[in-house]
Order: sequence, then structure tokens, then C-alpha cells
Amino acid sequence: MRGTSMKPQSLRRAASAFLAAASLVIGGATSGHAATGPEPAATERQAAAEPVLRDLAAAKGIYYGTAVTASKLNGTYGTITGEQFDSITPGNEMKWGSVEATRGSFTWSGADAVVAFAEAHAQKVRGHTLVWHSQLPNWVSNGSWTADTLRTVMTDHIATEAGRYQGRIDHWDVVNEPFNEDGTRRQSVFQTAIGDSYIADALRAARAADPAAKLYVNDYNVEGVNAKSTALYNLVKSLKEQGVPIDGVGLQAHLILGQVPSTLQANIQRFADLGVDVAITELDIRMTVPPTTAQLAQQKAEYKAVTAACAAVARCEGVTVWGFTDSDSWIPDVFTGYGAATPYDENFQPKPAYYGIAEALGWVDDGTPEPVGACVVTYAVQSQWNTGFTAQVTLRNTSTTAVNGWRLAWTWPAGQSVTQAWNATVTQSGSAVTAANASYNAAVPPGAAVTFGFNGSWSGGNTAPTAFTLNGTACTT
Ligand code: G3I
Repeated sequence: MRGTSMKPQSLRRAASAFLAAASLVIGGATSGHAATGPEPAATERQAAAEPVLRDLAAAKGIYYGTAVTASKLNGTYGTITGEQFDSITPGNEMKWGSVEATRGSFTWSGADAVVAFAEAHAQKVRGHTLVWHSQLPNWVSNGSWTADTLRTVMTDHIATEAGRYQGRIDHWDVVNEPFNEDGTRRQSVFQTAIGDSYIADALRAARAADPAAKLYVNDYNVEGVNAKSTALYNLVKSLKEQGVPIDGVGLQAHLILGQVPSTLQANIQRFADLGVDVAITELDIRMTVPPTTAQLAQQKAEYKAVTAACAAVARCEGVTVWGFTDSDSWIPDVFTGYGAATPYDENFQPKPAYYGIAEALGWVDDGTPEPVGACVVTYAVQSQWNTGFTAQVTLRNTSTTAVNGWRLAWTWPAGQSVTQAWNATVTQSGSAVTAANASYNAAVPPGAAVTFGFNGSWSGGNTAPTAFTLNGTACTT
């Protein structure tokens, strides 16, 4: 039953899709779907079975986005980004320090790459961010400014950057993180030199530079109703009363497991009622690492709840996760001992959180039982000829403890025999086979996988084995 399993659903799904691919190959000639590496490509997994977040979100009238790192937009990272998300936010490439490290000298390569990727994949772009106290070049943060000189520098920067991408950015985080926790203004260089009006100045400059973009003010710890979000609420109210162009508020949502604010949806609703759009702009939910299955299950519920809260309010435009994979998350760098904050693990395997998002967007699970073992084995016949075949076996450690030395055993159902193996030492007695680790692949950390292959002979039939044991314990196949 889903929700009570001790195992991440992702493993079940990756395994079942992989076995589907394997059975195609076992049943006939080798096709383009055959596994050629240790695991199926993400495209193959997703084509076979996985929900597609961008499609589900579209059906709900919202977008689903991710922050990206421009230099990684290829391979599996690029494939998942393009397939699963319909909005992307450059994690760093559009920040002031990235594009204008030296006054008047601009570097656009990273930002251009993100916009080009989005256009090639029919995705929206959240421009992030034009005015922020952090990742500012020294010449701005340590400059000697009057209100007028800094206002000019700021509006020139906005005109240049937002102007460059005019018509190609759906949402701009024009001003980022203007508040302290108590709702007072953060004493950034802009606040101290220009005063409260810098936000209105920035919004007007952004509107002039790109009239089609929706202009947002974005902040963190404003997800629930609290002093900081109320300050943001009052700011938006005041801006609207003054006729300043403001289209939306971004709730970053860098959350801690177990601390999703109970007032999230009510808070989204109160901004909507004020007449602005809302977006969840930087969602991640961090936990202590390594994660337990219970933590991952709770994270699933919380991703589901946050996504559902947005989907429930008409003016909530969409959700962006701040990196879709744990291999591209800022959390471990900044919060020692924390991680696992995103919907995909470091090996691009979807975590329970991914299915929580999908469920919030209306996806219904197919009811396949979840794995119960501490290991998942995928067996694929890669090629087969009159009396011989080549097979590949992937063993994934789905427990929370490391494996140090492994013996994977199975029984041939149709009299096959192993003739030659690589990346494992394979012995056979009658129909009982044991594959033992090589010296160099004995260690399998939690969540990791090893792959080995072999040639075998067959006659009559080449039915795949259905049961494997790892060091004597049954695995899920
Ligand atoms: O690119 C350099 C690399 O050359 C160098 O070797 C390395 C050494 O530390 O640093 C790299 O730069 C890092 C950069 O990310 C790119 O990876 C910076 O040190 C690091 O500080 C920077 O962190 C970014 C952080 O903003 C800066 O405050 C994170 O990636 C980014 O995810 C994060 O995003 C912010 C949002 O913009 C606003 N809301 C909060 C969110 C999380 O902090």
C-alpha cells in the first residue's frame, strides 16, 4: 500500500520501467530500448511509466518549474529539465554579480543559455533577480552612493538586463528579499542609499524595460501568515495604491521537514485577494541526512501539500523547485548535516516527493505494490542469438546501510548457464548461480547501484529469473 511502505516508490518505478524495457528485449530482437548502460536513460524511464509534472500542472492551470544551472543543461539533467518542467529559473546566471561584475561590462553567456534552453523546450523563464542585496558586485555593494547616483545605477542595470530579454521573460523577480524577519526593511545598500522608494523605482524601471513580463517581489520566510509576510502584504497594498507596477509576490519556500506553515494556503489567498498573482518560487524541503524512509515519506506529503496549496488558489501561477535533483541543491553547502531537499536524488532517480507533487496535480498511482526488499535488481537481456545471450544485472542498495561485499544469487528457470562474466565473479552449480563482487565494486552505499554483465547459453527458452537474493536476503525485482 502506498504511503506505508518502507521503500521509496521511486525505486519501484525505476525498476518496473526498467524491467518493462528488459522484457521487450528478452521477448525479441534487441531494440533501441535496450539498456546499454548500468541504468536506463531517464527518457526511457519516463516514456515508460513516469508522470510528467509539466503536463499535470498544465491540466491544473499552473506551471511547474525548476531552478537550473546553465552549465549542466545537457545529458540526463537536461533531459529531465526539458521533459518535466515548463518553467525554469537560472539559479545564479541572471544575478547582478553574474552579469555585471564590472560596471558597464556585461556577461550574458549563462543567462542566454538558460533563455535559449527554455525557448527550445517551450518553457517559461523566471528572471532571477534584478535587485538583491546578495551576489552583488563589490562596485555596487561597497560604492559611495547618493540616492540619485545609486538609483541611476540600479535603473540602468534593470534597463540593460530586462531590456536584453524583452518579451522573452515571463516573470521577473525584480526585487529579492527586501525584508528582515520582523517585517522591517533590510538595510541593503539600496535601502540605505535610496530609501523605501527603491522598490517602486525598480518596478517602474522593469516595466519600462519589458512591459510584457510579470513583475514580482520575492522573499523567504513569507510562506505563512507572519510579521514578515504581513510587511510584504502591506508593501504590495501600498504599491498598488500608488499605481506602481506590481504583478505578483514570490514565496520562496525554503522549508524544513515538518515545518510547512499551516497558514500557507490562507496566506496565498490573502495576496490573491489583494489583486496580485502568487508563485512558490524556490521550493525545497530539507532534512537531516542520510534520510530515513520515514523522512522521505513525510517529505512526499509536504511537497504534495505545498503544491496543492498553490493549485487550490486561482491566482497562484505555479511552483518552482530550487533545483530538481539533490546533486544540484544549495542546501548541503549552507546547512551542515542537511540535504535531500529536492524531488530527485543525486542519481536523478525520482524520490517519493516527486510522486507527491504528481499526486497533488491529479496523478493517480497505478496501485503496483511497492518493493519490500532492501535491494532492487534489474535484469536485462541485451542481446540474444541462437544459443547465446548477453545480460546485464543492476543491483541497487535500497537500504539505509552500506553493503560491503555482495553475493547475488538466483536460479535459472530454463536451464541457462553463464559462460563468461565481467564486473563480478559468477559461479554456477546446477541451475543455482552466485555472482560475487569484484575487488573494486564491493562497496555499495545506500541508494547506490552496481552493474555487472555476462554471456550465457540457452536452449529451448531464455526466461528471465524472477527472484534474487543479496547476501541471502530477497531483493525486489
Ligand atoms: O561559481 C563559483 C565557482 O567557480 C567556485 O569554485 C565556487 C566555490 O565556492 O563557487 C561558485 O559560486 C557559487 C555559486 O552559488 C554557484 O555555484 C557561490 O560560491 C555560492 O555562494 C552560490 O550560491 C548561490 C546562492 O544563492 C548565493 O546566495 C546558490 O547557488 C543559489 O542557489 C542561491 O539561491 C538563492 C536565491 O538566489 C535567493 N533565495 C535564496 C536562494 C538560496 O540561497
